[in-house]
Amino acid sequence: MNSRTHNCGELTKKNIDKNVRLFGWINSTRTHGKIIFIDIRDRFGKTQIILNTDSLIEKGKTLSNEDVISVSGTVIARSADLVNKNITTGEIEVVAEQIKILNVSAPLPMSIHDREASTEEHRLKYRYLELRNSELQNNLILRNKTTQVVRNFLNEQDFIEIETPVLTKSTPEGARDYLVPSRVHNGKFYALPQSPQMYKQLFMISGLDRYFQIVKCFRDEDLRSDRQPEFTQIDLEMSFVDEEHVRDMVEQLIATVFDEVNNVKMQTPFPTLSYEEAMKRFGTDKPDLRYSIEIQDFKKFSDQSDFQAFKNSESVQMINVHNSEFFSRKIISELDSYAQSLGAKGLAWMKYNDSIFESGISKFFNKNLQSNIASDCNIKNGSICFMIADSSEISLKVLGKIRVKVADMLSLYDDSVFKPVWIVDFPLFNWDEDNQRFDSVHHPFVAPKDQDIKTAISEPEKAISKGYDIVINGYEIAGGSIRIHDQKLQQKIFETMNLTKKDIQSKFGFFIDALKFGTPPHGGIAFGLDRLVMLLAGVNNIRDVIAFPKTTSASALMEDSPNTVSDEQLDDLGIGIKKNEKKV
Ligand code: AMO
Repeated sequence: MNSRTHNCGELTKKNIDKNVRLFGWINSTRTHGKIIFIDIRDRFGKTQIILNTDSLIEKGKTLSNEDVISVSGTVIARSADLVNKNITTGEIEVVAEQIKILNVSAPLPMSIHDREASTEEHRLKYRYLELRNSELQNNLILRNKTTQVVRNFLNEQDFIEIETPVLTKSTPEGARDYLVPSRVHNGKFYALPQSPQMYKQLFMISGLDRYFQIVKCFRDEDLRSDRQPEFTQIDLEMSFVDEEHVRDMVEQLIATVFDEVNNVKMQTPFPTLSYEEAMKRFGTDKPDLRYSIEIQDFKKFSDQSDFQAFKNSESVQMINVHNSEFFSRKIISELDSYAQSLGAKGLAWMKYNDSIFESGISKFFNKNLQSNIASDCNIKNGSICFMIADSSEISLKVLGKIRVKVADMLSLYDDSVFKPVWIVDFPLFNWDEDNQRFDSVHHPFVAPKDQDIKTAISEPEKAISKGYDIVINGYEIAGGSIRIHDQKLQQKIFETMNLTKKDIQSKFGFFIDALKFGTPPHGGIAFGLDRLVMLLAGVNNIRDVIAFPKTTSASALMEDSPNTVSDEQLDDLGIGIKKNEKKV
């Protein structure tokens, strides 16, 4: 086959009078009297082709969209009224001299240009066709650019990319494992890694200072619009560092990626919020800082009111939102149902107009109290206050979600603005009520703050960790920590989590053992690559930046996986299938 001279997005006025050969798919055909116009498309763009001889017109009539063709012809300038300034090739067209049909296409089961015209299930079934859509192609191209920039940056900083095993042992990142049965060792299983956490720490023990990997991770957990069962991390680890070193390196990496991929300049250093402050002010450890609404403690005011329900509550929290007119009874009732679905008893509200609170629960607040509230909480006319009274955990958490919902409703943010923030000073443990034991907030290898090493054992609930997360526009983009490098402390942390010596030995024996052979102080971080690309691409569904994603029930609809296997395969593995009552 003769090779192409140009791709379909390349020809400009500079190529006028040149003989060219293009390959691609037929994007569209239009007949105008004695001329047929064809748009030929490849991943680089589209070029307009003109068929104007009898034999070519005859051939043109047999062509259908998505047929694969080659065209040879001459580049000419388009007449001024036909110039399309929106595409690179908009000033030229190619007058065909020869057309070859390389393959005809059956009628497509879906539109590739109008994704919304098909259900997501249908599109995922024919994902290879959906991937002809330029928006999705651009997302994948952007993803590729991102990984190139990351690799270049990290290489320049002396990081080495090292692969770690995929058939491995359970890793403690907190989700359920995907298991792979062993044929050779009947009854035994590999686990797919939830992250390469232990391996990267072992590299530091090996002296392979500055490791990175762009690596698939697997977690069997409830899926959401920013979660997939298999996702990709940019994983890195460094020796002889403290929190500031890692954070500084990571800020440079993020600033470089945003600059080189999106031409967005990020200011460093990024702001920092403690976990406690983030929870108090935003009701979440993933705050979107593009809008200024903040949660305010309302208890001191509601205690002076006549509203018994509030006075009896442990905590009353409030947000103050401009644009009270937008909040009709119907919208307020939707927000109320949303708050209840999240576990709150309800969402109270009052509007502030003409310097008084009106409607909602305002009658319980006397005039004097109203004016104190307005001035202390900086409430302006035309605002609405939403309040939740409950345990402080619920009132903050639910109001944090209402804050996000309201910002969505009022379009309070701009997708081209990026607001990064470090969340630090996480608790080392949280109390797992179901299992009556302490569990790590991040994972068990996170070091406590130096001053909290003893507290971590004596009063685990009070210890603060050397963990850090990066949040951008409400998405947790990366999480990491300085690690424990002292073997005895690591052992004690496991014991604090109620693991018996036997459990520790069987799950982490090799790791605990390794720690005693001259482990350097070390730390690192892992980015969710998919989430980073979502932000760069300006999309809010993780499936839009993954070539072959799974549905929210972890199915692959195109290849129909997961699926049953033959009895022979099961016999080989020594596995019998129990009927599962809890079928999804
Ligand atoms: P962590 O569990 O916080 O840390 O994961 C790091 C980052 O990975 C992304 N992420 C996900 N992205 C898509 N789908 C998922 N199911 C998913 N789960 C996590 C998030 C998150 O911030 N080993 C540690 C890192 C370390 O300590 O260095 C770890 O995996 O963006």
